[in-house]
Amino acid sequence: MSAIIIDGKQTAANYRNELKDKISNYNSQEVPVLAVVSVGDDPASKVYVRTKQKFAQEVGMGCEVIELADSIGENALLEIIDELNDNHHINGIIVQLPLPKHINTLKVLSHINPSKDVDGFTPYNTGLLSYNDPRGFISATPKGILELLKSTAVDLKGKHAVVIGRSNIVGKPIAMLLLNQDCTVTVTHSKTENLETIVKTADIVIAACGRAKMVKASWIKEGAIIIDVGINRVDGKLCGDVDFDEVKEKASFITPVPGGVGPMTVAMLLSNTFEAFCKQQDHHDCHCHHKNCKCH
Ligand code: GUN
Repeated sequence: MSAIIIDGKQTAANYRNELKDKISNYNSQEVPVLAVVSVGDDPASKVYVRTKQKFAQEVGMGCEVIELADSIGENALLEIIDELNDNHHINGIIVQLPLPKHINTLKVLSHINPSKDVDGFTPYNTGLLSYNDPRGFISATPKGILELLKSTAVDLKGKHAVVIGRSNIVGKPIAMLLLNQDCTVTVTHSKTENLETIVKTADIVIAACGRAKMVKASWIKEGAIIIDVGINRVDGKLCGDVDFDEVKEKASFITPVPGGVGPMTVAMLLSNTFEAFCKQQDHHDCHCHHKNCKCH
């Protein structure tokens, strides 16, 4: 059997088109505006930020990129976030990760007003996710993965999902999201013993470990759904955490790299930004307890 290839590029393009219509039909003089804070000059981060800006503009959103030197102090960065929190023209704020080592990432992310936290990285929004409370923002990559899984029309209830990787950005939130979908979830990581044996029991594999082509066909149960979150560069070529060529012969569905999860992440970020905009326009009660939020 050869797997059906899940077309994240097309799914994301459809999503952006729908979003573009929603924005142009929205009865307001204002358009949603996303602020992207980018610290330092990590080349991969620069590419991601440019992509976010390009697609934001394409769907009719504003996108302000705030580029800051690697040497910026933590307090100066917190002050910039304060300004963005208080600026009513800004609807969504993201801080591109990773941050330089001298900056405390949790402290910075915690500073974002949860009602503008369109990456869903604040403790407030990750907390709402763990409560399965729909008021929170769900981070973009896990949300995009769920959309791709739903596009297969396979019933997720009771399925065994094995997540490879326990990062705050992907592994932990996708585990929670799948648990909320009634999957049985196993989270594995670099210290997991018998990883291959565990992955072999999976109906759904989420590969997010950052190791090029680590997941082999011999690890996969016949007919499993494979979601590859990895973006690795090998000999100048992009590849995922899954050995695509061999695993596709065993899986029922598989995402390619590039053109799988990546484009969905950006589409979901824009979707969250539009959601933030709508809630803020409605003076939605977000219960965020954040000073200067419109919800008070
Ligand atoms: N770095 C890697 N992925 C992401 C993401 O989804 N959001 C942000 N802000 N930084 C990232």
